[in-house]
Amino acid sequence: MNYIVETQGLTKNFGKEKAVNGVDIRIPKGEIYGFLGPNGAGKTTTIRMLLGLIKPSAGNIHIFHKDLRKERISILKKVGSLVENPSYYPHLTAYENLEAVRKILQVPKARIDEVLEIVRLSDVANKKVKGFSLGMKQRLGIATALLSKPELLILDEPTNGLDPSGIIEIRHLIKRLPSEYGMTVLISSHLLSEIDQIATTVGIVAKGRLIFQDSIEVMRKHAKQKIWLKVNDTEQAWRTLLGKGIQVDYGEGMLALTNTDDACIAEAVRLLVQDGFSIYRVEEEKQSLEDIFLQMTGGNEIV
Ligand SMILES: Nc1ncnc2c1ncn2[C@@H]1O[C@H](COP(=O)(O)OP(=O)(O)O)[C@@H](O)[C@H]1O
Ligand SMILES: [Mg+2]
Repeated sequence: MNYIVETQGLTKNFGKEKAVNGVDIRIPKGEIYGFLGPNGAGKTTTIRMLLGLIKPSAGNIHIFHKDLRKERISILKKVGSLVENPSYYPHLTAYENLEAVRKILQVPKARIDEVLEIVRLSDVANKKVKGFSLGMKQRLGIATALLSKPELLILDEPTNGLDPSGIIEIRHLIKRLPSEYGMTVLISSHLLSEIDQIATTVGIVAKGRLIFQDSIEVMRKHAKQKIWLKVNDTEQAWRTLLGKGIQVDYGEGMLALTNTDDACIAEAVRLLVQDGFSIYRVEEEKQSLEDIFLQMTGGNEIV
């Protein structure tokens, strides 16, 4: 696999506390990696280690297949980030703020217009930042992170404190980055709904440990449980299906298929209809993602 970010046993101790504990992150190229966990789970600490801002207590970090300890400068040149609330010169315009950073990074001036366009701030480029909404400021922060054309963008809770329309704007913006610019994105959040709507791969942290990491599809599959069938003669239908080798339970006057593959559901329905049963209802019982995360994190901290 082509992992843009790969950590092994990444650990950070603050005194006796293990803020990050043996974390193995793997982020495939071109994914939006949703880094999900309750407050205090260790997301920011992990991100600060990935950005070389603090040193791990143990473990390795490879970004672009290079060891962060050995090739820090060349790696970080290709990483853009937005961690915590960025600071701006409020009395300068959006353009002027970007120009200040551009000079340091020594990228071509034309790049300022490009990033303003990407984050849809071109219209207010010459307005002073002190009049910007929080959402506009966050987009300016992302524009700043994009100046150097990073291959990896790391955003720590970029929608924190935004109103719903601000959240939607940021979400649309981030979703375009992999397909339009070939970027890989890591976005952290304590909101499950947020990650569910934006991420293609998910890593869940709780108490410093990575307790789940897979594609969003696999995460959603965890939410699938049973298919309930309501038929005219439950017991007889149950015997019929069992006789044909289909896994089926019954309770509360309904049948429950435990194999929820589409083919299996279709086969069960077909067999019942063929044997003259009437089917009144076919229902999926879904465990909500929230329920699953409560189980995974062992608490009620994720919302
Ligand atoms: N500089 C620090 N010194 C001591 N403890 C810290 C420091 N930074 C974070 N922590 C602790 O590490 C844990 C993880 O924090 P953090 O990474 O900020 O979590 P998250 O970003 O998921 O909310 C928390 O218990 C926090 O109090
Ligand atoms: Mg944090």
